[in-house]
Amino acid sequence: VDACARCLVRIETPTDIPAALALQPHCGADRLVLGGGSNVLFTADFPGLVMQVAIPGIQWLGEDELYRYLSVGAGVNWHALVRWSVERDYAGLENLALIPGTVGAAPVQNIGAYGVELADVCRAVEAYDLEQGRMHRFAAADCRFGYRDSRFKQEASRWLITAVEFALPKVFEPKTDYPGVEAALAAQGAAGPLTPRRLADAIEAVRRSKLPSLEADQPGSAGSFFKNPLVCTELAEALAKRYPALPRYPAGEGRVKLSAAWLIEQAGWKGVRRGDAGVYDRHALVLVNYGRASGADIWALAKEIIASVQERFGITLEPEPLILPRDADSGV
Ligand code: EPU
Repeated sequence: VDACARCLVRIETPTDIPAALALQPHCGADRLVLGGGSNVLFTADFPGLVMQVAIPGIQWLGEDELYRYLSVGAGVNWHALVRWSVERDYAGLENLALIPGTVGAAPVQNIGAYGVELADVCRAVEAYDLEQGRMHRFAAADCRFGYRDSRFKQEASRWLITAVEFALPKVFEPKTDYPGVEAALAAQGAAGPLTPRRLADAIEAVRRSKLPSLEADQPGSAGSFFKNPLVCTELAEALAKRYPALPRYPAGEGRVKLSAAWLIEQAGWKGVRRGDAGVYDRHALVLVNYGRASGADIWALAKEIIASVQERFGITLEPEPLILPRDADSGV
């Protein structure tokens, strides 16, 4: 999706940040910290300053008997880090293979897939406080990680993440129970013990079978376009009486996670196209751009889906990517 920023500055080292902020008065009041841009939908041009974080580097911090510690620049491509680690037989990141975007964006929405989330391997986050003009290091326990959530998402205009510290476990405890993962491992036909690299390969195969990647021959997408709704147990049970096939996952604290993909598919949206904006035919949670759809076209389709799922199931879906510019309409 094409969009223009009034000003765009690449941040290649933390020392670039004050100079970028000094440009703000010339760029309008709006400010955005951007990673790879793969989880943002621009419904219009951006009337302000975009700081695109491109800080490189993987730094070895040391190890103890349980973990290896790394500090990784926020601009490093996420999947490149996953491949870098599994090629060295380091465990911890393999289930998060092929997620688009950068390392610095990973804590913002606490990326997660196939039973693992960033919070499981994060030791700390270094961020520049754009309001106070100084660096801050947050231990993982202070990052307020939740389902697709963190303090960096809640206070988005305040923090620019510069690096993420990882604690990668030395003992490889493969998580293969997510549907489809064992089958993808079996399809490899490999002998010998399971390695982080083989598990990453299997995860990639599962993802490629249902999600478009960012490769040129694939339709553009922001991955899952809606969050899986968290509802109270009573509501989940009432719905399950009417719809026994509704997938439900216990989420603790009297709450149940429902499958947004299932709700959208049941409401008849899978594979639907509105011009070049569409619902992916292999996964109902993914909105795609088949060519020339604008951000506004994608957002119009998303709102139709929200209204339809609301009418049919009484559940309000929330968008998972960041919708910009923020407005009363976007629900973010
Ligand atoms: N389903 C349908 N129709 C579909 C697809 C799925 O009914 O077209 C139902 C099936 O019952 C399936 C269930 O939905 O068992 C769950 O589907 P899936 O395993 O694909 O997971 P998801 O809940 O749709 C979440 C994440 C993905 C992540 C996968 C795997 C969110 C918003 N999405 O999707 O993350 O890759 O689990 O862990 O939590 C992303 O955030 O961009 C993303 C792709």
